[in-house]
Amino acid sequence: MIKIAVFISGRGSNLNAIIQAIADKRLSAKIETVISNDKDATGLIIAEQHGLNTFAISQKGMTRAQHEEKILEHLSKFKLDYIVLAGYMRILSPDFLKHFKSEQGYYKVINIHPSLLPAFPGIDSYKQAFDYGVKVAGVTVHLIDENMDRGKILAQEPFPRFGDDTLETFTQRGLSVEHSLYPAVLQQIAKHGIEKK
Ligand code: GAR
Repeated sequence: MIKIAVFISGRGSNLNAIIQAIADKRLSAKIETVISNDKDATGLIIAEQHGLNTFAISQKGMTRAQHEEKILEHLSKFKLDYIVLAGYMRILSPDFLKHFKSEQGYYKVINIHPSLLPAFPGIDSYKQAFDYGVKVAGVTVHLIDENMDRGKILAQEPFPRFGDDTLETFTQRGLSVEHSLYPAVLQQIAKHGIEKK
């Protein structure tokens, strides 16, 4: 069983998928706390409905270092195996990441990104891919490193774009892939850790 902190910024559908996978025993994990940089994030309501510990702190009026320091202070109450980013729309600084360095040298911080990286990094990746006109899109689960959207890829899953897709139907297909892929990859990590290669 892995002990995780889930970081969100908004809707929380991936958080919900992780909560459901744990409830269904498809994922051997315990969510110790849910962190949000937006106190109005819908995902916080989902977390609270499930009785999870939450911590919301906006970065407004703070430096990145001050904001991360507050989060680290909260996280220090728990013994965590991994940080799981689920739509957390802030970059984590090297100073933050070093607190989660593994013996093997990688950071124990996992992210899901809505594209087949290295294509379409950054924000609004479904829209980027849709506007570009891709026929095949996808989702990536990867480790975080010091470079945005560039860490070691743990898993990728493609999905098609259909001729009659709107951005909404395309995005919905991608989110369904995310909701099955992320818990499945986390379960692999719970069982086997992170493969060295
Ligand atoms: C998801 O599509 C996730 O992949 C994406 O934000 C959305 C969050 O949705 N993450 C990124 O773009 C990270 N760069 P959710 O709050 O419903 O899980």
